[in-house]
Amino acid sequence: MEASRTTVSISIELALEPIVSFDVFIEELTAALTQSGMSFEARENGRITEGEFEAGRVIAWKPGELIQLQWHQADWETEEATYVEMRFEPINGGTRATLEHRGWGGLLGGPGELTGWFARTVAAPFLQATSPREFGSWLTDRRARRPSGAQSRDIYREPLYHYPNFRVILQELALSRDDYLIEVGCGGGAMLSEALNSGCRAAAVDHSPDMVQLAREVNHDAVAEGRLEVIQASAEHLPFADAAFTCAAMTGVLGFLPDPVAALRELRRVLVEGGRIVVLGSDPALKGTPAAPEPMASHLRFYEDDEFQQLAVEAGFAKAIVVRRDLEPFARQVGVPEEHLALFAGPGTSFLLAQKS
Ligand SMILES: C[S@@+](CC[C@H](N)C(=O)[O-])C[C@H]1O[C@@H](n2cnc3c(N)ncnc32)[C@H](O)[C@@H]1O
Repeated sequence: MEASRTTVSISIELALEPIVSFDVFIEELTAALTQSGMSFEARENGRITEGEFEAGRVIAWKPGELIQLQWHQADWETEEATYVEMRFEPINGGTRATLEHRGWGGLLGGPGELTGWFARTVAAPFLQATSPREFGSWLTDRRARRPSGAQSRDIYREPLYHYPNFRVILQELALSRDDYLIEVGCGGGAMLSEALNSGCRAAAVDHSPDMVQLAREVNHDAVAEGRLEVIQASAEHLPFADAAFTCAAMTGVLGFLPDPVAALRELRRVLVEGGRIVVLGSDPALKGTPAAPEPMASHLRFYEDDEFQQLAVEAGFAKAIVVRRDLEPFARQVGVPEEHLALFAGPGTSFLLAQKS
């Protein structure tokens, strides 16, 4: 081993076949790199680029087995090349996935610096990522606050347990062909799909790229016909003109918003005079139940009915009331299994009904 050149290696054992591990890993890695501003052409001779700079190039591509990259970690020393290998080896019916970076450290100037680099940029982020706070936050994002990955896409494609909320919202909105609906935090677009049956037009935003893509897929025909657009955007900055919509809906989102008043104000801005809005509440009684389990519960904000109404008033909705609706009949209607109907019984679920005037 040269003084400051070494192999950095990390591995994990997965209860998946190598070919499946490979595919899932590549999909997630590509998405994560894209989010951090890098692009990865995941194929033979593909490149990894960061802006104009080529950080890596695929020199071996064997699906289900391995990927090798030639890696250039520095744009000021373009000759400095190292090698990254990602291996997927079968073990006990599963896979050991290993990421190994060879020849690392040549630009670091000494073993002490190498130790410092490893401690600060590899070990510390790894420990943070697996700490209770960060891991809980990651899981909250992954499953609900900004859903991503195949499992979340499956869940939000048809979120059976959310349909009772959708039904209440749609009943309250009583959509017609003349309506133009905006939904904020549309997830996989399941409620949009029901809303569009009224003949209305709609637009939706979600800040999760996976959910935007899914909502477009689920409502493919409406998107193709120009009756629906789904845009990646945040609730606090809606990419629409003032007074564009006749009505608005938001469900399963309120508790995740750091500034709910800003989001409601933004919704009010894009509504016409007289435009109506229905928003599902974030009831403290749900904390820790299957509707808001940990770790989500600790990352959600909850509002009593009077606080919820106050948010709308602060956002400028003069006519705002919070009502309680019984979800159980809707749960039966949409086919929630008998043994889970009890989840929908109780004092009713809170919804904000408001109008811009
Ligand atoms: C629990 S999911 C609910 C999805 C869908 N409305 C449903 O009921 O099935 C919350 C959704 O809101 C989105 N979301 C959360 N905060 C958001 C924000 N500030 N701006 C835009 N979307 C947001 C998430 O990405 C996620 O898709």
